[in-house]
Amino acid sequence: MQITTHATQPIDGQKPGTSGLRKKTRVFMEPHYLENFVQSIFDAIGGAAGKTFVLGGDGRYFNDRAAQVILRMAAANGAARVIVGAGGLLSTPAASNLIRKRSTDGGIILSASHNPGGHDGDFGVKFNTPNGGPAPEGVTGAIHAASGRISQYRIMEAQDVDLASPGERTLGAMTVEVVDPVTDYRRLMEELFDFDAIRRLITDGFTLRFDAMHAVTGPYAKAILEDALGAAAGSVVNARPLPDFGGGHPDPNPVRARPLVDLMMGPEAPDFAAASDGDGDRNMILGRGVYVTPSDSLAVLTANAHLAPGYARDLVGVARSMPTSRAVDRVAAARGLNCYATPTGWKFFGNLLDAGRATLCGEESAGTGSDHVREKDGLWAVLLWLNILAARRESVEGIMRRHWAEFGRNYYSRHDFEGVDAGAATGMIDDLRACLDELPGRRFGALTVETAEDFAYTDPVDGSRAAHQGIVITFDGGARAVFRLSGTGTDGATLRVYLERLETAPDALDHDPQDALAPVVAAADAIAGIAARLGRTRPDVVT
Ligand code: G1P
Ligand code: ZN
Repeated sequence: MQITTHATQPIDGQKPGTSGLRKKTRVFMEPHYLENFVQSIFDAIGGAAGKTFVLGGDGRYFNDRAAQVILRMAAANGAARVIVGAGGLLSTPAASNLIRKRSTDGGIILSASHNPGGHDGDFGVKFNTPNGGPAPEGVTGAIHAASGRISQYRIMEAQDVDLASPGERTLGAMTVEVVDPVTDYRRLMEELFDFDAIRRLITDGFTLRFDAMHAVTGPYAKAILEDALGAAAGSVVNARPLPDFGGGHPDPNPVRARPLVDLMMGPEAPDFAAASDGDGDRNMILGRGVYVTPSDSLAVLTANAHLAPGYARDLVGVARSMPTSRAVDRVAAARGLNCYATPTGWKFFGNLLDAGRATLCGEESAGTGSDHVREKDGLWAVLLWLNILAARRESVEGIMRRHWAEFGRNYYSRHDFEGVDAGAATGMIDDLRACLDELPGRRFGALTVETAEDFAYTDPVDGSRAAHQGIVITFDGGARAVFRLSGTGTDGATLRVYLERLETAPDALDHDPQDALAPVVAAADAIAGIAARLGRTRPDVVT
């Protein structure tokens, strides 16, 4: 089979963001776009010769074509083996698991996570390092640099590899090992959780629903929740992965997964419900009549993880992204655990997990995970919840009430202003940064500013530093507002405002979060001037 070297030129903007390179699908489909970026990955990691990689994606439009291109490029660059999920599918956590378990040289994940798919939707390519985690800044920087110097890429001229079913194929001298996407992942879950206890809970009448949102977790959830754990057939809905996710927006939050929330707030609600996103790393947890915020979920999982066999050992520590609520900090303080606050993005957890400093990690953006892989893991969070419910035999609502009574409640919400003018948004953040020194002591409505900082993080393991990771304003009494711009969007800019207020009074733990947070919302707007500067009086998405 012939290997061709194509002349090419750098393409602007091939800079990985919060999670890999994300662009409109049609941008990725432009001539040389994908090829340039993939060659830049290989170039940045010292070539592909003799190496083994994992490859898979969330099944969105162009996943199949991109997988074939990447296989032919890997072969042309001398890779020894690529382990690929059948149909080109792998959930992000399953890919992370395979990268680790098979001691590979990394992996390429095709996904734009929860962003809509399809020809007019988004596509993404992410490189994960041999620890199974998203490439850290040093590596993504090297990939970006390589994309700016590229002059050629190598590709093999060959027919498509048959990825339909497991088995070994060859592409020139390279082996293509097609694996069932679910098998290894299910085994890992069986090691971590008490499947017998969950099965007994379900046999005793516990009911659940899982919404796969027509994305990659459908086959995983069916195999695990229905086949292995005995949930009734049909408990997993929207289980078939579709290239356009059925036209939906596969983000498991109360806005995008509205039907599931409505079900759980109505008379027909099962005991438990959950959803996952496009590539299977996010999760949403609901009980009958109750939505568990991701920040609260991290806190509850930290307080109860010991009930699952895989976490019966002591937790070594916990980590949350800085904008995530400080609910978990309260559990960590009570249990004597180290608690780290990192910048937004899972890549910052990798070093803490590798160094054995953290066992559980989480982000307010519906991401929770542990040291079992190096990505957040939607179905893992669902199974840990189920294991806890099986051990405690209490309702989700009961568990939340007890948790708040013991640790206090961190009312929390995120307000997103989407598609705002990028210049205006950047200007707003810059001006905020410039006036941080003047804020402490000033009063905004009912709240007085305690501290104001431009969040920077020094990695405690390798000393690397990430600056300008968000503006954090804390108020007296445990309230906080955080401002940052999204690093995953593909249209204009998205301003995220993260709002939090601690409540410990036993008779005030039951308010609507938006009501409880109203003074913080008002103070945040007064400080940043969102309405005045961005022309927006209300957020587009409230989670
Ligand atoms: C968003 C979330 C962040 C998450 C990332 C990838 O990034 O806020 O927590 O790690 O998606 O799933 P952002 O768009 O805010 O940069
Ligand atoms: Zn995702």
